[in-house]
Parts: sequence; C-alpha cells; structure tokens
Amino acid sequence: MKNVSVTFTLNGDLVTAEVPATWTLLKTLREYFELTGTKEGCGVGECGACTVIIDGNAVSSCIYPILEVEGTSVTTIEGVADKNGALHPLQKAFLENNGVQCGFCTSGMIMSAKALLDHNPKPTKDQIRTSIAGNFCRCTGYVQIVDSIEKAVEMIKEKK
Ligand code: FES
Ligand code: FES
Repeated sequence: MKNVSVTFTLNGDLVTAEVPATWTLLKTLREYFELTGTKEGCGVGECGACTVIIDGNAVSSCIYPILEVEGTSVTTIEGVADKNGALHPLQKAFLENNGVQCGFCTSGMIMSAKALLDHNPKPTKDQIRTSIAGNFCRCTGYVQIVDSIEKAVEMIKEKK
C-alpha cells in the first residue's frame, strides 16, 4: 500500500510521518516514531491505555486514524516532562503515592488527568474520577490513582 504523508506537532516538534493511510495514531507513534510509552491494551477504544492529548483533548489513539492527525498538536507521555527532564507534578505524584503498580495503564491515566488539569487546575474528586472513567487499571489501583491526581493538584497549586 502506498504511504501517505502526515504533518503535525508531536511533543512540541513539527514532524512528518510517511505511513500507510490505514494506520492509526497509536501504530504511528509506536512503530514509526518509536515512542512506546503509549500502550496498546484493547485496541478498540475501550481501555484508555493508549490515551494521548490532541489539541487539548484526551483521545484513544488506537482508534484515531492517522489521516485525521494532519495539522494537529499531539502530546504523548514522552512530552509530559519538561525539556530538561523535570517530571510533571502528575508523574511525581504517581511515583510518590503508589499510583503505579504494573504501570501498563499509567501513561493513559496521566494523559487523561493532564487533559483535565490543563483545562481545570482545581478539579473536584468527582471531576477527577470522571476524567479517568475511560481508563481501566487491571491492577485495580484506583484509590491510589485518584489520590495521586489530587496530590498533583496540590503540587501545582503550591507552585503558583
Ligand atoms: S488500546 Fe486504545 S482504548 Fe484500549
Ligand atoms: S497499574 Fe497495572 S494496569 Fe494499572
């Protein structure tokens, strides 16, 4: 199959992918750009493991056609720490509050939570829960995950 050329911003850099038109964003991230922090769980839009942020919104990259990415701005877990490698408060909080067990769901959880905090830096617990409602944790660490997001909210507040 002939490749298509798709240009978009990826973690702050303008990039072009030359991939088959049938590829998803997830496949492009993992196999073309070799950014493997975004995970494939179900592959059908139901588990949230593949969540990335496109133009400020959390989306399931496993069902996002690469052709629709043209001209957008995509952030993956690799783009969450700052350019000097300093971790985002969400990453720190997950590490410090047992928000990570096997880690398979973690990047998706962090991207969903980041999309929320970018729009609403002072969410309620219910809003936090709703933001990760589409993210499944097979290790069932939801209590620690919600705690971690709440701790990140505090860290962000203290910074300001
Ligand atoms: S892998 Fe995309 S939602 Fe499950
Ligand atoms: S930490 Fe294992 S799936 Fe969530």
